[in-house]
Amino acid sequence: MDLIPTPSHKQTYSADGSFALTPGTVLVAEPGTEATARWLRATLGAATGLPLAPAAPGERPVGGVVRLALDERASGSAEGYRLTVDPVSGVRITGAGPAGVFWGAQTLRQLLGPDAFRRAPVGGPDRAWQVPACHLQDAPRFGWRGFMLDVARHFMPKDVVLRYLDLMAAHKLNVLHLHLTDDQGWRVRIERYPRLTEVGAWRERTKVGLRESPLWDERPHGGYYTQDDIREIVAYAAERHITVVPEIDIPGHSQAAIAAYPELGNTDVIDTTTLPVLPSWGVNANVLAPTDNTLRFYENVLTEVLDLFPGTFVHIGGDECPKEQWRESATAQARIKELGLADEDELQSWLIRHFDGWLAERGRRLIGWDEILEGGNRAEARQEEAATGGGTTAFGLGEGAAVSSWRGYAGGIAAARAGHDVVMCPQSHVYLDWRQSESADEPVPIAHARGLEDVYRFEPVPPELTEQEAARVIGTQANIWTEVMDSVRVLDYMAFPRLAAFAEVAWSELPEPAARDWPDFERRMTAHYARLDALGVEYRPADGPLPWQRRPGVVGRPKAGPPPIV
Ligand code: ACM
Repeated sequence: MDLIPTPSHKQTYSADGSFALTPGTVLVAEPGTEATARWLRATLGAATGLPLAPAAPGERPVGGVVRLALDERASGSAEGYRLTVDPVSGVRITGAGPAGVFWGAQTLRQLLGPDAFRRAPVGGPDRAWQVPACHLQDAPRFGWRGFMLDVARHFMPKDVVLRYLDLMAAHKLNVLHLHLTDDQGWRVRIERYPRLTEVGAWRERTKVGLRESPLWDERPHGGYYTQDDIREIVAYAAERHITVVPEIDIPGHSQAAIAAYPELGNTDVIDTTTLPVLPSWGVNANVLAPTDNTLRFYENVLTEVLDLFPGTFVHIGGDECPKEQWRESATAQARIKELGLADEDELQSWLIRHFDGWLAERGRRLIGWDEILEGGNRAEARQEEAATGGGTTAFGLGEGAAVSSWRGYAGGIAAARAGHDVVMCPQSHVYLDWRQSESADEPVPIAHARGLEDVYRFEPVPPELTEQEAARVIGTQANIWTEVMDSVRVLDYMAFPRLAAFAEVAWSELPEPAARDWPDFERRMTAHYARLDALGVEYRPADGPLPWQRRPGVVGRPKAGPPPIV
């Protein structure tokens, strides 16, 4: 009980009884549910020491079984499921699709208690593993329940990514957005361009704290994923019904690529051969040159990326691209003139639209930060639309392009109204690098204080959207930027417990009347902290950081009061 996220539809518990998993409990996997059966044996088997053996051939076990089944009538959503626990017949999880069975298995794990989250049994061989008698009916509110991990600023080794996939699965999150490239590092091996990781995957030293901090860590920092590492991550995610969305950020946030291949930068403005992989933080003036060479280079990069990441969406970044170098560059200005564009914003839009079309031709969909809308709603884009006979929106992007609305709700609202799908991730609510309280004890404080309750009260669908526009909000995502997170311990502190509140926002239907019940969530968190403890997650305790979770003397950039909501 005390499930997080709470079931969307129905949750009834019977006072009389429970079902006990024992060494004799059989796990029956009906066709299409075998993968979840494997996961249950591996995960619950490790935690309980129980074999959860399959039924013997020809045997029809009566009573006392855990049965997994598929039945599309179980829910209107392929991710929905029904879970019934009966003291005599046992546990039955019926998913409308294989993902539903898996999310039902996650619920079963929570019903077994916190020790079900350990990797080996505690409490001795005679311990009873009771599941309360109940009937649950559950399905997600949103199809995109995302978590973005920035592995560019601080590299997170493969094991950290795999661990976070397990943590996401435990919270029924289903999209891992990997921010793989930035000024400070390039983290995926590209065979055609080995210098991207030979040069771009490490930096000489690192600013400790934000830019205004005087401190440096003089140790080189680096790391990257081989293509087989990526294949492993993607496969591990797929077993957990999680899609990995890669982000290759262009045309800003690209200095690591320019350090590796200086011809990618604006060589007629600065000597790009002197640019290092950036050791410090912030929005950076050194951006890609809008040349044919850059287009071909990134097409070749994306060709390998498409081979590694089979999901529909590819994130192209598009955020925070200062235009100063393009204003000074004769090459960029000539391109603007040649294309008949009005200005540098339209040049950025042209670049993004190029990759939008390139991805669409390959059966994929572009997703980008809300800046991909900028410069796209001007005359040139509309002329192109008329020339091509439509298929593009008011922003000149293909109808399949989607927007990560991060600067607030406004970009997402404009995109939804223009007919684009939207993932709502406003920094004001779900940027988990923002500090968790006003206390001076918060480590390297960034931006406004956003605590567990603020995240819990986040509503991804803005009320001003019509029902049709609101349907364009395909989901929501919490984002973690790792400028000041140099280890998984700090990552855990910033992600949790807020990611648990976010998971409920993303999964659980709004109750009627449409308001989240914070006291009830806070009560359920008592059980959930015990689960996180068993998982070994070093979350932020409700009453503030433990002494070793502080980072005294490292300068962040706190902002006072609540954030503006835009
Ligand atoms: C972003 O936070 N620059 C997307």
